[in-house]
Amino acid sequence: MALMCGIVGYVGSGPVSARPLQVVMEGLQRLEYRGYDSAGVAVITDTGLQMAKKAGKLVNLASRLQDSPLEPGTAAIGHTRWATHGGPTDGNAHPHVHGDLAVIHNGIVENFATLKAELMEAGDEFASETDTEVVAHLLDRAYQETGDLTEAMRQVVVCLDGTFTLLAVHASQPSVVVGARHDSPLVVGLGDGENFLGSDVVAFIAHTNRAMELGQDEIVTITPTSVDVTDFAGRPAQAREYIVDWDAKAAEKGGFRSFMDKEIADEPQAVADTLLGRTDMAGSLVLDEIRIEESVLRAVTKIVVVACGTAAYAGHVAKYAIEHWCRIPVEVELAHEFRYRDPVVDERTLVVAISQSGETMDTLMAVRYAREQGSATLSIVNTHGSTIPRESDAVLYTHAGPEIAVASTKAFLAQITAAYLLGLYLAQLRGTLFPDEVAAKLVELRAMPDKVQTVLDRSDRVKQIARWMADTPTVLFLGRHVGYPVAMEGALKLKELAYIHAEGFAAGELKHGPIALIEPGQPVFVVVPSPRGRHSLHSKVVSNIQEIRARGARTLVIAEDGDEAVVPFADQVFRIPQCPTLLAPLLAVVPLQIFACELAHAKGLDVDQPRNLAKSVTVE
Ligand code: G6P
Repeated sequence: MALMCGIVGYVGSGPVSARPLQVVMEGLQRLEYRGYDSAGVAVITDTGLQMAKKAGKLVNLASRLQDSPLEPGTAAIGHTRWATHGGPTDGNAHPHVHGDLAVIHNGIVENFATLKAELMEAGDEFASETDTEVVAHLLDRAYQETGDLTEAMRQVVVCLDGTFTLLAVHASQPSVVVGARHDSPLVVGLGDGENFLGSDVVAFIAHTNRAMELGQDEIVTITPTSVDVTDFAGRPAQAREYIVDWDAKAAEKGGFRSFMDKEIADEPQAVADTLLGRTDMAGSLVLDEIRIEESVLRAVTKIVVVACGTAAYAGHVAKYAIEHWCRIPVEVELAHEFRYRDPVVDERTLVVAISQSGETMDTLMAVRYAREQGSATLSIVNTHGSTIPRESDAVLYTHAGPEIAVASTKAFLAQITAAYLLGLYLAQLRGTLFPDEVAAKLVELRAMPDKVQTVLDRSDRVKQIARWMADTPTVLFLGRHVGYPVAMEGALKLKELAYIHAEGFAAGELKHGPIALIEPGQPVFVVVPSPRGRHSLHSKVVSNIQEIRARGARTLVIAEDGDEAVVPFADQVFRIPQCPTLLAPLLAVVPLQIFACELAHAKGLDVDQPRNLAKSVTVE
């Protein structure tokens, strides 16, 4: 059973109390964006292991706990699940308990059928269809032999193929939680007389901002006063401690209707923070972690951007900027396509991975593949302590803060901003722009947060139109040059949030097919390039608006302040401030995000947790 889930673990000192369950339930609430098919908790109490789990969202588990509360305890683990196959039932929910042991799991145990058959032959019976239950059985057996949960975990992990984060507790070790990770995230939170484990720091940020990164194939044992990390062979491992530079407030709704509303409102800050502190004393651009020789970066003949979903559209914007500024060919590949088509990458290729979570399995695998081919890898990632930056040769962090809503908004703007920084960094290094040109572009970039704010300040009308359009069955999006990825992202947002059929097209492609879709009343968003920049493109897109208008389309136009040419052909004009053409996606996408979010609200949908989606897709 493939899962990508939220995991939280807690152990506290002192006598039994309600705190372990409270901490875990609160952590699950913050992690629910990772999966919301079912949820469960296990607590070690004075009378042994107690467990509760429930299909559906976390509220179902919370009301189950209210109806029949668990006893106070010393340690607890909790899980929120996103199933890729097998029903999201109470029985398949985690934890899985065997004897006095409970385990939760994120990932897939690929050899579970073989292991299960062996266990059944030996007389074991199974209550669920999950791979995880097999792990519970194996751990319990190993515990009976070793009498130690860490040792049992060590014995079991080497028998498992696939990917996993596992957390386990045993009633005989009431102040211990053991975790293991292989190709799946797990972070330690360091408290005072208590310690935490989580799929990411959001799980425990309300209690501590001291965190510890676990490496690949490591096992961690937490007690109230200790954190021991070893590799799978039991050798001590060095885990890196770091301070999380945002607090619990940043992971809360702060009075907004939804996380997405808040995250859209955070966008000016996300762009500003991503630009902060990027220059050294001499005014040259610097990246966060560079483990690539400058000579290698100078010799790069091709860049391949790998990413999924919204991050891939940020990659498309990066292509336009990097090719223009650095004169290096840039390809953009969906990470899941990249690895399986024998791509032409070598030592002279720079592979750039873009990911909000830093955990998307396809993107991680693309990075690994690229490294195997000898390519240098650089990642643009929002989540510190995640796997993709750890496995890349260089990292440029986006400082968007925690993004909780499943569909990405502020991270997209931060990714584009980081991509511009990367482009300027390479241009500086390779001398394709003069230092004063780089400096001038940085000044233009630094003006962008205020301009994003201006777009937000003007959002009333786009919201009103969205509410009027709640019954629309389909919406088309057109754009050209950097407006093309913006159009595709606008369509993706609408699909994800409002479950409305939407498609983004390159405006130049209109006549080659999509125009056949236009019938009277068909709403079409058009992202219009600046009339000040590439005049030919501006007039071509204005012609496109006329063409679809003539066929009855309802035109919703995103155009720069002062662009009067669009007015006669637009049913609605949404204005964005003037800015250089290449930077315009930071502004043009915002009304489209607001449109999708507002329309989803108008339809009464859950914009933070759209159906069938998960924030962090940690399975292939
Ligand atoms: C999921 C999310 C998307 C996101 C994509 C890539 O599909 O729902 O919003 O764009 O994953 O995620 P990443 O964390 O790699 O940016």
